[in-house]
Amino acid sequence: MNRLRILRPDDWHLHLRDGAALQAVVGFTAQRFGRAIVMPNLKPPITTTALARAYRQRILSALPAGSRFEPLLTLYLTNSTTPDEIDRARACGFIHGVKLYPAGATTHSDAGVSDLERVYGVLAHMEKVGMRLLIHGESTGPDIDVFDRESHFIDTVLEPLLVRFPRLPIVLEHLSTARGVEFIRGARPGIAATITPQHLLHNRNAIFSGGIRPHFYCLPILKREPDREALLEAATSANPRFFLGTDSAPHEKNAKENSCGCAGMFTAHAAIELYAEAFASVGRLDRLEAFASHFGADFYGLPRNTDHITLLNEPCMVPAGYLFGDAELIPYRAGETVGWRLESA
Ligand code: DOR
Ligand code: ZN
Repeated sequence: MNRLRILRPDDWHLHLRDGAALQAVVGFTAQRFGRAIVMPNLKPPITTTALARAYRQRILSALPAGSRFEPLLTLYLTNSTTPDEIDRARACGFIHGVKLYPAGATTHSDAGVSDLERVYGVLAHMEKVGMRLLIHGESTGPDIDVFDRESHFIDTVLEPLLVRFPRLPIVLEHLSTARGVEFIRGARPGIAATITPQHLLHNRNAIFSGGIRPHFYCLPILKREPDREALLEAATSANPRFFLGTDSAPHEKNAKENSCGCAGMFTAHAAIELYAEAFASVGRLDRLEAFASHFGADFYGLPRNTDHITLLNEPCMVPAGYLFGDAELIPYRAGETVGWRLESA
């Protein structure tokens, strides 16, 4: 297949940042996707509907002229989030989920939840009003092996949470393990997971091939080959519980190429093209549209997009870097090619 026309996709997990960084990256997503669930881990985090409203305006102002891209906002759950704030979020019409970062789990998660029991009241309220909980599912204790953090979280936090809140809709974000795939497949209704392109295309060897490669460092960290295979199998299985969420997370070059480099891979410049590569690798391009353009919208109770994009099976060169405010942004595949390109790009 040399040409693939699909309903316009949505990105159900995205970091857009703010200010000059936002301005530098939002166009890439807006060119490809109709909507995106925008993560709230700014500094300071988006903890209230008022902050989300202002952030939404900044995103809309940063869009290229004529863009019809729609940002879907999220709130950052803290130990002090109130049920009233959930009501305000529910009523505003542009907040579609509340994000749980276990404190210390990842970039800008220090304001996250330190003890889940402290937010039981808010979670009960979210369950009552039908507000989705989006979870960064990794345990954070220093004694837990970094490669086991997702499995540990599923076993010790998520399983009991599902029992305590049997009707709370939950997205387990950026699924990274075979254990996670098995868990999502067998979970009660109302549980889904997003999958990133990097977790479909790479295993952890990518982080260490020929030297240490900071641009392959993200959280959850890339796992073993059987995990990648299980994720690719899940994404291409036409199971509506698995859908597209890039977790594209731009950081300036100096913050990545550093003695303590931060987590995050920037993939927005070629996001849907990378998923096409992954699906083509197992002869399943026929299932890309459902994964990218149907299942997420259905889970979020939103209408599917109605316009289309076309992908061409032609190599497309990725620049060595992009401007990122005053800094530089190194994209995934910098200086190399991606096997697909957007027809209009
Ligand atoms: O790699 C990551 N980067 N994982 C996250 O959970 C956060 C993200 C970021 O904001 O940079
Ligand atoms: Zn993320």
